Amino acid sequence: MNESIYRKILLKHGADILFSPNMQSEKQFLQHGKVSVFTHSVAAACTCIRIARILRVRLGIQLNERALIRGALLHDYFLYDWHIPDRSHRLHGFFHARRAFENASRDFALGEIERDMILRHMFPLNLIPPACPESMILCAADKLCALSETLTRASRYQKISRFF
Ligand SMILES: [Fe+2]
Ligand SMILES: [Fe+2]
Repeated sequence: MNESIYRKILLKHGADILFSPNMQSEKQFLQHGKVSVFTHSVAAACTCIRIARILRVRLGIQLNERALIRGALLHDYFLYDWHIPDRSHRLHGFFHARRAFENASRDFALGEIERDMILRHMFPLNLIPPACPESMILCAADKLCALSETLTRASRYQKISRFF
């Protein structure tokens, strides 16, 4: 899939999220290596699109594409820099999914699938497993992106994220 297809799908389902001031503020917070939370979230959404496409083409599995993209874009919407020590975000790994969920439900209307995706994306570190297939895909996509961003200190989706 080329970049313009990813951009088109992201814009179709997530333009309001991508261009919102709080989401834009994620550009200043680093996530892994030199990759910002914003780029990591776009990368997670693109990886979800790729996995969903494989499942559809190979296995005929239909997913809620809109929820998949919106949940992926908002999964790390915790809105702080976790590298800066602060009492308000101690044990970031354990609690940021809840914080992202609270922020996201304040700023956007979330459906059942998006809620599950955001709250459960840190499984198995957070013990309750995902309930929806979209959440399971995000769980895998997030870990794939995190691993590649940590190892290479860059994101293959950097160019796509610069568009927004
Ligand atoms: Fe996360
Ligand atoms: Fe993440």
